[in-house]
Amino acid sequence: MKMDVLEAIHSRSSVRVYRKEPVAIDLIRQVIQAAARAASASNAQPWRFIVVGDKNRQHAIRAIAPGIRDEPAAIVAVCLQAPGAGNAHADEMAWMSLGAALQNLLLAAHALGLGACPVGSFHQRAVALLLDLPAGVTPAILVTLGYPIAGAAASKKPAPQKGLDEICFSERWGVPL
Ligand SMILES: Cc1cc2nc3c(=O)[nH]c(=O)nc-3n(C[C@H](O)[C@H](O)[C@H](O)COP(=O)(O)O)c2cc1C
Repeated sequence: MKMDVLEAIHSRSSVRVYRKEPVAIDLIRQVIQAAARAASASNAQPWRFIVVGDKNRQHAIRAIAPGIRDEPAAIVAVCLQAPGAGNAHADEMAWMSLGAALQNLLLAAHALGLGACPVGSFHQRAVALLLDLPAGVTPAILVTLGYPIAGAAASKKPAPQKGLDEICFSERWGVPL
């Protein structure tokens, strides 16, 4: 299935429950490769990914990640390798770059027929320990991945969206586009 980028953007939504079916590692690789094609400040590519497929390790993560609702096929920990030097602006740019990678990951998963959900509700230090993250590497977000349950997306209402008038202005703040 090939999906137009705008179609993927507008039809994606978070999938939190999954079929009990493994996802081929090559498909997960494609998703990660798409994530890693994101724009990044100074092309620093500050993202690192850890794919957790082992059920025991997933169980351990779920115990410290209350944001995960179901048993996914894989949990991807999207980590930030900090640019260092304590430069606050560089850090902000790196976090922003990670956001771009996250969105690429979600869209690629969707375009490849997978469901995905970002999970920010987790114990950062405990996840770092569990994944053996070295100093300077922070788990930024977890993404659960798996095949969506057939028909579930169609019956799910999309998350409410703010209107363009509320979020986008023309020339100066408050003037509708
Ligand atoms: C940074 C971030 C953290 C999130 N954390 C969680 C989470 O812990 N648990 C969860 O179920 N969804 C989480 N989400 C998913 C959002 O709830 C979801 O994207 C939002 O409600 C919009 O719905 P949609 O993705 O279906 O469009 C997170 C999303 C982002 C971007």
